[in-house]
Amino acid sequence: MVESTPLLPKHSSQFQSQQFWADFFKESQKQESFEWYSEYAELLPYLKAMLPEPTPETRLLIPGCGDSLLSEKLALEMGYKNVVSIDFEPEVIARMQKRGVAGLTYETMDILDLKYESGSFQAIVDKGTYDAICVDYKEETVSKLSKYLQESMRVLN
Ligand SMILES: C[S@@+](CC[C@H](N)C(=O)[O-])C[C@H]1O[C@@H](n2cnc3c(N)ncnc32)[C@H](O)[C@@H]1O
Repeated sequence: MVESTPLLPKHSSQFQSQQFWADFFKESQKQESFEWYSEYAELLPYLKAMLPEPTPETRLLIPGCGDSLLSEKLALEMGYKNVVSIDFEPEVIARMQKRGVAGLTYETMDILDLKYESGSFQAIVDKGTYDAICVDYKEETVSKLSKYLQESMRVLN
């Protein structure tokens, strides 16, 4: 994890701006990854307690993956063979695809408009993405949150 970046937002409203994320990922590509909030090791007890068993049928969705290495850890260290990670920033998705880790799929997609069938995931692991939407109490923000939760519930099995 990097200690700091010149591109941390000056105001929380920037978290909702796709341009902010495009600029952020231009900067963050100078290092391997930028983990928001928590590292895999810190999350491991919670992941073990809350995620379903990693059977061949278990499919996980990681919304707003950015360049976090969490998806790779879920595949390589926890044994999940079907991890789908999405972000609306195409550059960061292209960068993660190039890493070529088996069992991982990266797709450019808006978390508010999931292109997946209903009931097609056993769990969703959101690390920092809900927070990136939940920046104020404006009507538009609340309806985005509601849409995100509806879409998430729809694709969960
Ligand atoms: C705080 S970062 C968390 C990144 C990563 N999950 C982590 O833990 O390091 C929020 C991420 O959500 C993505 N994001 C924000 N709004 C999105 C949306 N509507 N659709 C898809 N991705 C979105 C951003 O591009 C960014 O990668």
